Amino acid sequence: MIAFEGIFLIYLLSSIFFILAVRGLASPASAERGNHLGITGMAVCVLVTLLVVPSRNDVGIFLALIAAAISGITIANKIKMTALPQMIALLNAAGALSSLLVGVVQILRHQAHAFDTSVGMIIGAVAFSGSCVAFFKLSGLYTFQRLKFANLINALILGVIAFYWTRFSIDGTMQTAYMMIALSLVFGATITLPVGGADMPIMISVLNAASGFAAAGIGFSLSNIVLIITGAIVGASGTILAFVMTKAMNKNFFQILFQHKNVEQKQALNEKTAHTASVQDAAFLMQNASKVIIVPGFGMASAGAQYALKNMTDVLEDKYGVEVKFAIHPVAGRMPGHMNVLLAEAKVDYEKVYGLEDINPDFVSADVAYVIGANDITNPAAKTDTSSPLYGMPVLDVVKAKTVIFVKRSLAAGYSGADNPLFFADNTLMLYGDAKKITEEITADL
Ligand code: TAP
Repeated sequence: MIAFEGIFLIYLLSSIFFILAVRGLASPASAERGNHLGITGMAVCVLVTLLVVPSRNDVGIFLALIAAAISGITIANKIKMTALPQMIALLNAAGALSSLLVGVVQILRHQAHAFDTSVGMIIGAVAFSGSCVAFFKLSGLYTFQRLKFANLINALILGVIAFYWTRFSIDGTMQTAYMMIALSLVFGATITLPVGGADMPIMISVLNAASGFAAAGIGFSLSNIVLIITGAIVGASGTILAFVMTKAMNKNFFQILFQHKNVEQKQALNEKTAHTASVQDAAFLMQNASKVIIVPGFGMASAGAQYALKNMTDVLEDKYGVEVKFAIHPVAGRMPGHMNVLLAEAKVDYEKVYGLEDINPDFVSADVAYVIGANDITNPAAKTDTSSPLYGMPVLDVVKAKTVIFVKRSLAAGYSGADNPLFFADNTLMLYGDAKKITEEITADL
């Protein structure tokens, strides 16, 4: 048996591994090392806990661990990169649910401090149901967004939760706790349901932060240092990420949580009114250009076109002496850093990859903006149309390039559901097809 001080020190060591992991994940070059450090920290935690926590059902625990490990490995191997946000939502839900259940067990065993346990349980319940709703919305299994009187309903539920929370702090009974948990579950769903498509990335970060804080709250009630530290790391990093993304989208939390814009999906704008181009047109325009800016989006990820893009870039640079740059919007794709990861995987030089603020002044001098599987992040309505769900979000100024080539399969809207007037601009050419296939064909033509 390891002495109490020993456990404390091992947990502290694991926490250091987690902190170094987060540090490693900050850059693509050190991300793999960061991941390994995180795995090591978690393995140490699980092993030590198994060794020191007395259990009446060792076999049950081992079976549960094996089943969880097998399902985790299977899902992680099968999941597509484009489905990672919903996977994160599910993992969030799992973390939040475990905090909630540990809290319930603590109360049942009369071992809980009412205050910190109840905070952990409320946040855990909100994060659990909110993450489940986010999972359904992100997977496209559930598109319902309208919730009449959402703010009024949420304010009422929050008021009643506060009532039961106060009562629980006084009477500490299970009945009160169950009411508090049930209402928190409802609140998690009703606060997440009306959040608009374009704002979901921020909502996921908020829920992620919430599941971290729930774990920290439960950590206090268990006096478990590793839960407190890791919960605080997840809570703080989720909060910082939410702030960074909110800033990138030029919004604030109030707008995201309380000012809902309901997008009626408008049916396909008339395809005949947009100018179209062939693969040969695109190849001709780019080989004669001095500067080409590539704007990748979700469709690039979905098609897995990053290697094809890298090949096209090499040919344009080496054979035709074209200057090629990549423009990355902070919420391009479906998760933070989505495009950066894919371009790094295809060995696109970091030096050629620019963020929104750095690249925007460059579009005026670009001959071609090659927009591949991107839509919302280029939508000029974000600047002009106050009714647009994207209104206020800074966008890539592709419209300023001499010619804009959009590679996508149709005139369909992007994630936010907003129509993109840029498809009909005089300097825009639509090149319909799969992002990878079209890019390979252009490269072959070049
Ligand atoms: P979107 O606006 O979603 O547009 C992607 C476009 O790609 C679609 O219009 C689609 O048009 C096209 N596409 C899909 N598959 C394709 C394929 N195989 N080949 C060619 N085109 C394909 O993507 P975006 O411009 O990257 O903007 C991101 C959006 O997602 C924002 O609204 C953002 O708020 C939201 N979001 C972001 C995140 C994060 S953190 N990045 C997380 C969740 C949501 P067709 O169907 O016509 O081909």
